[in-house]
Amino acid sequence: MESLASLCKRRGFIFQSSEIYGGINGFWDYGPLGCELKRNIRDAWWRDMVLNREDVVGLDCSIIMHPRVWEASGHIGGFADPMVDCRVCKKRFRADQLCEEQNQKLIKTDKGFALPEGIRCTCGSKELTEPRAFNLMFKTFVGPVEDESAVAYLRPETAQGIFAQFGNVLAVSRQKVPFGIAQIGKAFRNEINPRNYTFRSREFEQMELEFFVKPGTDPQWHDYWVEQRMKWYQSIGLPAESITKYVYAKDELAHYASACVDVMYAFPFGVQELEGIAARGDFDLSRHQQFSGKSMEYFDPDTQEKFVPHVVEPSAGVDRIALAVLCNAYREEWLPKEGPALEAEPGKQPPEGYEARTVMRFAPRIAPIKVAVFPLLKNKPELVEKSREIFTEARRRWACFWDQTGAIGRRYRRQDEIGTPFGVTVDFQTLADNTVTLRDRDSMKQVRISVADLIPELDRRIGR
Ligand code: GAP
Repeated sequence: MESLASLCKRRGFIFQSSEIYGGINGFWDYGPLGCELKRNIRDAWWRDMVLNREDVVGLDCSIIMHPRVWEASGHIGGFADPMVDCRVCKKRFRADQLCEEQNQKLIKTDKGFALPEGIRCTCGSKELTEPRAFNLMFKTFVGPVEDESAVAYLRPETAQGIFAQFGNVLAVSRQKVPFGIAQIGKAFRNEINPRNYTFRSREFEQMELEFFVKPGTDPQWHDYWVEQRMKWYQSIGLPAESITKYVYAKDELAHYASACVDVMYAFPFGVQELEGIAARGDFDLSRHQQFSGKSMEYFDPDTQEKFVPHVVEPSAGVDRIALAVLCNAYREEWLPKEGPALEAEPGKQPPEGYEARTVMRFAPRIAPIKVAVFPLLKNKPELVEKSREIFTEARRRWACFWDQTGAIGRRYRRQDEIGTPFGVTVDFQTLADNTVTLRDRDSMKQVRISVADLIPELDRRIGR
C-alpha cells in the first residue's frame, strides 16, 4: 500500500485534502489522473446500469434534503456506530473494530452494546467507557439562524433521495414495475475511524440503484442483481478470483431486509466490501408514505392491483472501486532486453541485464489515459506535424497524452507508470509509407499499422 500511495501522489492520482495545512483526516482529493479514473468508473457504471437498459432511469438529487427524510429513513434515530473512549489516552474507537482487532465480538444487549471481557485500548489500558451510540450524519444549518429549527444534514447515502422522488419519477418516466432509479453522487459520514487510505472516508461517492419490484418477486431479483454486479466487476478489469461474495446470515440482517450480499475485494489490507446488494422489502417507501402522508403505492395496470413496491438495492462506492482498481493494477517488474518480464522482488535491485519498471495494468476501458502519441524526435517538424494530426484525431474520442521529450524508452516508461494502455510512435518510416508503431503496455509488443487503420484498431482494443 505504501508504494501504491507514493505512486498515487507522485503521478497525480490521489492527494491528501488540504495537504498544505497538514491534511484533514478522512478527506481526499483526486488529481488529474485520479479524476479521470473515477470518471471512467462512474461512466462504466452509468452505461451498464442506466443507458444500456430500458428498465432503469437516472436521477440527481440535492445533497441537503428536508430533515424529515432522515427521520423517515431511520438515520436520525439509528444511524449510529457504537463507540468507546479510553480514559487514559483519551483516544476514541469504534467498539466493533476494537473487538475485531482482538479476535472478540461486540456483545449485543437489550439497551445497546457491551464490551467483552479483556478488551484493551491500543495503549494497553483496560479503562474503556461503555459503548455509546455516535450518529454519523454531518449536521449543518440552513439559512441565517443557527437554531434547532434550521438543522439539516449532509446526506449519508444517495438512496433516500430516490425514495423521496419515487412518485415524481414514476409519473414522468412511463416505467412499469419492475424498474429502477439510479443515482451517482457524494455522501458524507462522520466516520469515527477513517482508515486504509481512501477505503473508509468521511466524504465519498456512491453509485446506487433502487430497483422496484412486485412483492414476492424479491428473491429472484436479488439473485439477478448479485449475478449482474459480480460480472460487472470483471468488466472493469478486476479478476474473478479477487472478487467474492459475503452472504449475510438471517441474524445479521436489518429487521426489514430479507437478504443481503456484499461484493468483497481482496485488498492488500484484507478482504473488504466494495458493494452491498440488499433486498429491503417495502421498508423505505412505506416509511416515506407514513412520514409524508403521500401515497407511494403503485397501480399495476395488468392485474389491477395496488401495492407499495419492494426494493432491491445494489449500492457501491466509487472511491472504494477506484482503490480496488489501483491495487489490482499496480505491478513492479524486471524487464530483460528481450523476452517476458519477471515480477520484481520487493526492495531488491533487478539482476544484471534487467531494467525495473512500474506499470499500472488498468483495463483499457477505465485507464485514465487511453493513448499516448509520440513523435520520435521533437526537432523534426514533419514528424511533429504528422503526430499532431494523429493526436488531434484520437483526442476527439479518448483521453490522450502528448509527449515529445526524452528518449522514446523513457517516454514509454512514463506512460507505463500511469497505466496508458497504448502508445503510438511516428517515425521516419511514417513519412514514407503512412504507417506508425502501436505499442501495447502489457506485452510491450509493437506492431506497424497504417494510419488509416489506427483509430478502428484502437477502438476495437479499448472497447466499452
Ligand atoms: N444505501 C445503502 C448504503 O448506503 P452502505 O453499505 O452503508 O449501504 C454502500 O454503503 C457502499 O458505499 C459501500 O459498499 C461502500 O462502497 C460505500 N461506502 C460506505 N461508507 C463508506 C465510507 N466511509 N468511505 C468510502 N466508501 C463508503
